[in-house]
Amino acid sequence: MDARDLLRSVRMAGSASGLRATRAAWRTRRLDARDLPRRGQERARVPGPAVDAEAMPGGGVVRFARSRLQIRVAVGGALFCGWDGAGPEPSYALAPAGALHGGAGGGLPEPDSRAVLEPDKDGWRVVSERMTVAVSTHGAVEIRTPGGLLLRRELPPRWWDAAGPDEAAPSRWVQRSQTPADARVYGLGGRAGGPRLAAGTYRLWNTDPGGAFGPGDDPLYVTMPVQFVVADAGCHLVFHDNSWDGQVTLRDGEEGAGSGHDRPGGCEVRMDGGPLRYWVVAGTPARVLSGWTALTGRPALPPRWALGHHHSKWGFGSQQEVRRVVAGYRERDLPLSVVHLDIDHYDGHRVFTVDRRAFPDLPGLARELDGQGVRLVSIVDPAVKAEPGLAEYDAGLAAGAFVQDARGREVEGVVWPGRAVFPDFTDPKVRRWWGGLYAERLGQGFSGFWQDMNEPVSFAAFGDPSLPRSARHSLEGRGGDHREAHNVYALAMARAAYEGLRELRPEQRPFLFSRSGWAGMQRYGGTWSGDVATGWEGLRASLALVLGLGMCGVPYSGPDVGGFTGAPSPELYLRWFQLGAYLPLFRTHSAIDGGRREPWAFGPQVLEHARAALAGRTRLMPYLETLAHIARGTGAPYVRPVWWNSPGDRALRECGDAFLLGDALLVAPVMEPGSRRRAVRLPRGLWYDTATGRAHRGPAQVLLDAPLDRIPVLARAGTVLPVAGADGAIELEAWAPRTGRSGSGVVFTGDPEGWAPPRMERFVCRWDDGRVVVEQDGGGDPPYRVRVRGAGA
Ligand code: NOJ
Repeated sequence: MDARDLLRSVRMAGSASGLRATRAAWRTRRLDARDLPRRGQERARVPGPAVDAEAMPGGGVVRFARSRLQIRVAVGGALFCGWDGAGPEPSYALAPAGALHGGAGGGLPEPDSRAVLEPDKDGWRVVSERMTVAVSTHGAVEIRTPGGLLLRRELPPRWWDAAGPDEAAPSRWVQRSQTPADARVYGLGGRAGGPRLAAGTYRLWNTDPGGAFGPGDDPLYVTMPVQFVVADAGCHLVFHDNSWDGQVTLRDGEEGAGSGHDRPGGCEVRMDGGPLRYWVVAGTPARVLSGWTALTGRPALPPRWALGHHHSKWGFGSQQEVRRVVAGYRERDLPLSVVHLDIDHYDGHRVFTVDRRAFPDLPGLARELDGQGVRLVSIVDPAVKAEPGLAEYDAGLAAGAFVQDARGREVEGVVWPGRAVFPDFTDPKVRRWWGGLYAERLGQGFSGFWQDMNEPVSFAAFGDPSLPRSARHSLEGRGGDHREAHNVYALAMARAAYEGLRELRPEQRPFLFSRSGWAGMQRYGGTWSGDVATGWEGLRASLALVLGLGMCGVPYSGPDVGGFTGAPSPELYLRWFQLGAYLPLFRTHSAIDGGRREPWAFGPQVLEHARAALAGRTRLMPYLETLAHIARGTGAPYVRPVWWNSPGDRALRECGDAFLLGDALLVAPVMEPGSRRRAVRLPRGLWYDTATGRAHRGPAQVLLDAPLDRIPVLARAGTVLPVAGADGAIELEAWAPRTGRSGSGVVFTGDPEGWAPPRMERFVCRWDDGRVVVEQDGGGDPPYRVRVRGAGA
């Protein structure tokens, strides 16, 4: 028991749920002691000297004395390396073939037959369009750009194989690698301390931190062995396709200040089991994310309404209270798109039920709200109350749908409804069953789904607040235990919901977002920050999460605006609200004892400034919709690090307090109390302060006004931005290009909720006789009103 465990058990002591959580923790400990294979003697192993090699389509196999390495470059340029016979499949990350509707492809890409393994002076190499891979005679793998610059050097791996009587135990392994001295790493899922990941160790185990988290808490709900590396030599993404518990240790490199002796950056991936295999995708940030999401699935396209403002609250308590809040928005003429119902609308916290006393007519409420342009979203927790007579419990039990222990008994945990069991979403038939249960939610009038507690959480007074590691899972029929299934549990739950909704309501795009997940989760939906602590640090952490997840291929996310816990000061609430208005998921939410988050709950001044932020959001809707389509088509996130178009600008790589919203805007939220002015580091090019119209030339650091009523937002010169005019119609806002230059922008318009392919229009702007003109690409006036801003330079 460590200090954190002790604190948790003291906090829980005395209450009925505390007692249950204590019992559950002991039960987990007993089960694991009984059923987990013991780690006994181990023998260390390295590949040893190379023996021979064989060319195959896309690369080939190099055999070493004690292992072998498969190399395969896929069409599109992604590189796969697998040791000890590991191939790319089976994999939870790769998009399942044919499973996605609406044109997202899926399935393992074909090998690129032009890439072939050939002997080289110190071993072998594979030359492909996007990279050159060299394999040494001792198993080091170097990945270089086509121009010969080093992106990454993987040293020969090391395994610890079980020896003696415990041979069933999986091999542990470590893979060390080097990156250029100037390399910086982003990603690893959602990390509160990011977006640029400082040197240190990051665990790969999806975790509910309990209570609320701040920047020092790690790991959190979404971990992924996905690293996005940016360096002068170029960018690449490396993904270790392994869902076991593990850790990544990063070390910053150092440049040898003129001595010519750089100390490279270091990365060490250690896993407790599972295959040693990884993918590398290289190129510009846009190319990398396009390659990565081609492999793992393009991001789901949210319905248009999901880009509006969401209001959520744990503890609405009743239908009347929901009505009151919605009326509050309406009476103050504040736009509202979505209301979320948390677990308090369930009957005794039982998933897929309704507390009929507090919510006597949910379908009626949903219809009424729909008439006012407001959708209802329901929380869905995976745990089912272990209660004979409860339909979901009885049916799941009869079908063998719940996670069992090694002796075939259901594993019981403790969650909100008390004693509970957990569907095994790694079983295709369980996914089908669970997906069908959403019929009840649709019948209640819900339009979208908020998947929670799916790390999965089982309250425990000490130890891991999840299922026992020895718990058995189907793992698509292969069989295995929770050590392998834990990190993909939420991903598989999202798949169950997504596929269920596709069947139940085929004409509409599913909307779901999930607290936990893994590589590939974007193909089913988005995520949110989870229980971010209310405070300025929590505000900063919430941007770090959105940026880091975007670089892992998950573009749709956002924080609990105002923070999950306690009561934010009016200033903190406002600054959070102003940031949230520029993030894909813009949702206010708080804990049951967390106080109110309505914009009018913080006084008249905050209300007026929040109104301005909401108006700004409404105006940006056509741009956000365009960005959603771009994310769907290419994997490029809406929210991008400021170095996205200038990865060679080293100062920008350290920036965690600003971001690009698409290509057009640079948003600089205020994340310090009392601040009315802030420094903003600009990428190359000319940028206009959208509030003042003043032009600033980058690269540079500028000081900009940030009065309480707004945060600095800059527009790139030459951008043509689709916005909503006062009547709701699309307008083009063109920001003058630099004198003598031209610019452009795209507009996607599409089906708000269905699957019809979108329409893409491109517009160009240029100087003509001392004024800026905007035309359709190829000539002709745009079919939209045009407003030109900025004066060029
Ligand atoms: C934990 C979630 O993170 C939070 O958003 C939610 O309000 C509570 N569970 C209750 O469902």
